[in-house]
Amino acid sequence: MDLKQHINEEKLPDHVALIMDGNGRWAKQRGKERIFGHENGVEAVRDTVKAAAEIGVSYLTFFAFSTENWCRPHLEVETLMDLLVHAIGNETPELHKNGVRLQAIGDLESLPELCREKLNEAMKLTEKNTKLIVTVALSYSARWEIVNATRKIAEKIANKTLSPDQIDEDLLHAAMETASLPDPDLLIRTSGELRISNFLLWQIAYTELYFTPVYWPDFRREHFYQAIIDYQRRERRFGKLNKQVAVSKNL
Ligand code: FPP
Repeated sequence: MDLKQHINEEKLPDHVALIMDGNGRWAKQRGKERIFGHENGVEAVRDTVKAAAEIGVSYLTFFAFSTENWCRPHLEVETLMDLLVHAIGNETPELHKNGVRLQAIGDLESLPELCREKLNEAMKLTEKNTKLIVTVALSYSARWEIVNATRKIAEKIANKTLSPDQIDEDLLHAAMETASLPDPDLLIRTSGELRISNFLLWQIAYTELYFTPVYWPDFRREHFYQAIIDYQRRERRFGKLNKQVAVSKNL
């Protein structure tokens, strides 16, 4: 069945965030090292980006490496960083050709220098592209981001460029790593785990959640389309009643 034709182009999510999980289990099932799962996860990223660009989703955000992931065995962390450097190097020309902008959020200072360099090159090359904004979260955790945002605001208060009564949701939004992005409409997590794992906690207040048992290396455009079709069946109320939502949309 061609799932794409069941997608309503009028009701597309603008921003889809993805927690790519299950690489290790996928590799284990095949009697291989965990990194084999990460390597095969790159193809899933590629197919998801293509599918999103084709149907007209504007923003994709991938959770590629969490603050907590630094605690994994040294060899896995190092190999994952190498993989990211290579994936960024290999994919950027194609992304650029297709009008995709690449950006990153997280504690980028903590990344190995080569990884940072490749990332900066790719972000510079693609900075004017607007068809699809792909954001990779690297050495990211939502609590780290909220602590940082709080610190930035506290500094402004301490040097008297801001007063406490000026603190509101817009100010918090602007202090987050995701200041340039709208909040996600849809969050997809693979591998059957029903958790958020410290990802975009501030931003997902009204995000629709979609969990699939598929391990990330097996995730392909059909799974992405299925998640969007499921999202389109839901009624988003943002805490209001349906009739109030209809009025605010002029329906
Ligand atoms: C989680 O699976 C996955 C990761 C920590 C890494 C994801 C990274 C990639 C797929 C590399 C490519 C990414 C980009 C954006 C180019 P896990 O290891 O926690 O799996 P498990 O829960 O089965 O152990």
